[in-house]
Amino acid sequence: MIKTINGFSKLTKFEKIKWLAGHFCSDEAAAERDLASWQHPNPAVQNVIDGFAENTVANFALPFSIAPNFIINGKTYAVPMVIEESSVVAAASSAAKFWQERGGFHAKVLGTVKLGQVHFYWPGNPDKLRAIFPELKVQLLDSCGDLTANMQQRGGGIIDIELIDFEFVEPEYYQLRASFETCDSMGANFINSVLERLAEKLEEFFTLYPGLSDAERDAEVVMSILSNYTPNCLVRAWVECPIDSFADLARKQGMVAAALAHRFARAVRIAQIDPYRATTHNKGIYNGIDAVVLATGNDFRAIEACGHTYAGRDGQYRSLSSCSVQNGIFRFELEIPLALGTVGGLTSLHPLAKLSLEILGNPSANELMCITAAVGLAQNFGAVRSLITTGIQQGHMKMHLTNILNHLSASPEEAASAQHFFQNQTVSFSAVRGFLAEIRS
Ligand code: MEV
Repeated sequence: MIKTINGFSKLTKFEKIKWLAGHFCSDEAAAERDLASWQHPNPAVQNVIDGFAENTVANFALPFSIAPNFIINGKTYAVPMVIEESSVVAAASSAAKFWQERGGFHAKVLGTVKLGQVHFYWPGNPDKLRAIFPELKVQLLDSCGDLTANMQQRGGGIIDIELIDFEFVEPEYYQLRASFETCDSMGANFINSVLERLAEKLEEFFTLYPGLSDAERDAEVVMSILSNYTPNCLVRAWVECPIDSFADLARKQGMVAAALAHRFARAVRIAQIDPYRATTHNKGIYNGIDAVVLATGNDFRAIEACGHTYAGRDGQYRSLSSCSVQNGIFRFELEIPLALGTVGGLTSLHPLAKLSLEILGNPSANELMCITAAVGLAQNFGAVRSLITTGIQQGHMKMHLTNILNHLSASPEEAASAQHFFQNQTVSFSAVRGFLAEIRS
């Protein structure tokens, strides 16, 4: 059977489903039914969702969960989280509750600068380029007036344009590095439109500038695109408390509070020293961050890419969080770049992203940075707390029990018995299968 097709994108959704099921699925009718059923009941809403991507045949469901009791800068939030991993939301909620009684989370935006680049090659003398750059910069800024007017009215726009010289690494290679303030929007389209305009102006400038050689008139723009590395779009979230506040938690583990606090700090320190541990440690942070980023219609790939580059900014990949225990005070902190938006993009188009923002009190981008960083810190706190005490499997497998029961097609009665039985038993796939076999026989 020929499985390639020309003009797939031109088919109607129904035709796409039919073709797909007929060519790639063992049970054609079941696949057709499945795909046809994963549609929003309101065609207008489905139309909007279909518009987010191309060749859309169905919606892909993920849990939309809430982590309540987050106190951040004195304000209470119920935080929407979209994630498929068992125990992430439970861990975030539990950490939120723990810190609720210890002053909550604190967060501060340290910067909101976004960046974009025009990469170009120019075959002239670098000193000459540096000398004419001030004139070029004025013309570049002037050329974008119509594109930046709206953003300027909202308090943003182009902050600066720098000439970056890579000549010493790659002959003739330079870049314009432009910095932007995009207020409450993530600003990708704004930045990319401005960059493309800057690129046009740059090429025109060299063709018209007096006294250049023929070769120097020929600047070659290779590409113009925002940079997802925004180290100055940064937020710090932290929690702190006297170490005695860990007394109850420590007692349950047969420890004293100070030992628990120090072990926690050591676990974080290990993630600063060793990239293998740092990667997993930071993955735990992004369990929380990505879930909020997705729920609010932001771009989690951009957020992750940026954070991991930031984690390696001194040449070694390290933990994004840090911990100190000094003078009887435990302090746990996360500093993370988060280029988020609360207007534009999917934020108002995706019905649940819009609702997420409403649940969060329609925050500004800065407030959303604070909330998201606090959730990342909470997630990291929950993971490290488990790792240094019970280990994560106990909680994780308890939560995963539901998935195993669903996988084994347990009835509601069987599931209830299993939940009861496994309260004090180690959960594993085979143990659950054995338990079900026994009660079924
Ligand atoms: C699992 O998704 C995340 C953890 O591995 C994070 C960590 O080890 O810190 C528990």
